[in-house]
Amino acid sequence: MDATFVLLPGDGIGPEIVSQARRVLELIATRFGHHFVFHEAMIGGCAIDATGDPLPPQTIELCKQSTGVLLGAVGGPRWDDPNAKTRPEAGLLRIRKELGLFANLRPIKAYDELIDASPLKRDVVQGTDILFFRELTGGIYFGPSSLEDLPGGGQRATSTMVYETREIERIFRMAAEAARQRRGKLTMVDKANVLEASRLWRRVCAELIESDFPDLDYEVILVDAMAMHLISRPTAFDVVVTENLFGDILTDEASMLPGSLGMLPSASLGAGGPGLFEPIHGSAPDIAGKGIANPLATILAAAMMLRHSCGLNEEAEAIERAVQDVLATGARTADLARDSQKVLSTIEMTDLVLAALQ
Ligand code: IPM
Ligand code: MN
Repeated sequence: MDATFVLLPGDGIGPEIVSQARRVLELIATRFGHHFVFHEAMIGGCAIDATGDPLPPQTIELCKQSTGVLLGAVGGPRWDDPNAKTRPEAGLLRIRKELGLFANLRPIKAYDELIDASPLKRDVVQGTDILFFRELTGGIYFGPSSLEDLPGGGQRATSTMVYETREIERIFRMAAEAARQRRGKLTMVDKANVLEASRLWRRVCAELIESDFPDLDYEVILVDAMAMHLISRPTAFDVVVTENLFGDILTDEASMLPGSLGMLPSASLGAGGPGLFEPIHGSAPDIAGKGIANPLATILAAAMMLRHSCGLNEEAEAIERAVQDVLATGARTADLARDSQKVLSTIEMTDLVLAALQ
């Protein structure tokens, strides 16, 4: 197949890990007889430095015309000034909106080989296999917000959680279809005891279950309780669907289950059009440029890109198997290494994945 991928290395360790994922994609093209074209573009802090805009128009254009977009990470202390005109993160929020990426899929899977790196007990974490669907283009992230000066001094800031029926329906449907392909269990997380927006979620989702997905084992859980259940009984969950901010927080919490943030990919999808694929971890400015970052989350994100944007399931599975095989041999980057284990560089780890893929 012919595919055009846009690479958005971004900031911090982004360039180091995206270049390694590209090597994996190039090998896949050779081994499976595909033709992949790569374009690189700017996003985040590096784009602010070069153009003043964290998401320059050329980047948006290239992405819209692509088969899929692979992003490294954005942000860093250099662009953290709260009074700055714009921030790297604004580029990320805008590309989600521009590409209509309303569904953020975050698989949380505990690798047997890495469980001892988890801060939680082995018997709690073992067997964890959750697929989060986080709504990504609505809610409090994109609702009306304002900042005003109060007459008597001080200020008032407002951020609003807004949802419409169709925004809830489209992501819920996607999550419910996924649950059907997995273990048939779906958990919807809200705060319906307090928030009007959550009460709409609860009604809309219940109606969809009744009309279209009566076969699913469906439950609703309040977000505060979910924060607890996630670490006390993570194996009880299969597919979890929730709104934007709750999903942001819960998936960071869940990312600790498997032991390392360095292993977790994510996919942002819309209704057709290119998806955006990235590691869950950030730009890790403290280790940027040292060549020691774990490339596996980005490599696994590239696998998700092949699966979701190209329908190349066999190729995606080949990458996922290669990663698993490499971990099984004891290969570890600094974030995963324990005790006396040898620490591999970003490139050495990728070399092993490439060898396993040959
Ligand atoms: C994420 C990040 C972003 C978000 C930030 C960087 C804007 O935390 O992808 O989870 O909050 O969505
Ligand atoms: Mn986040």
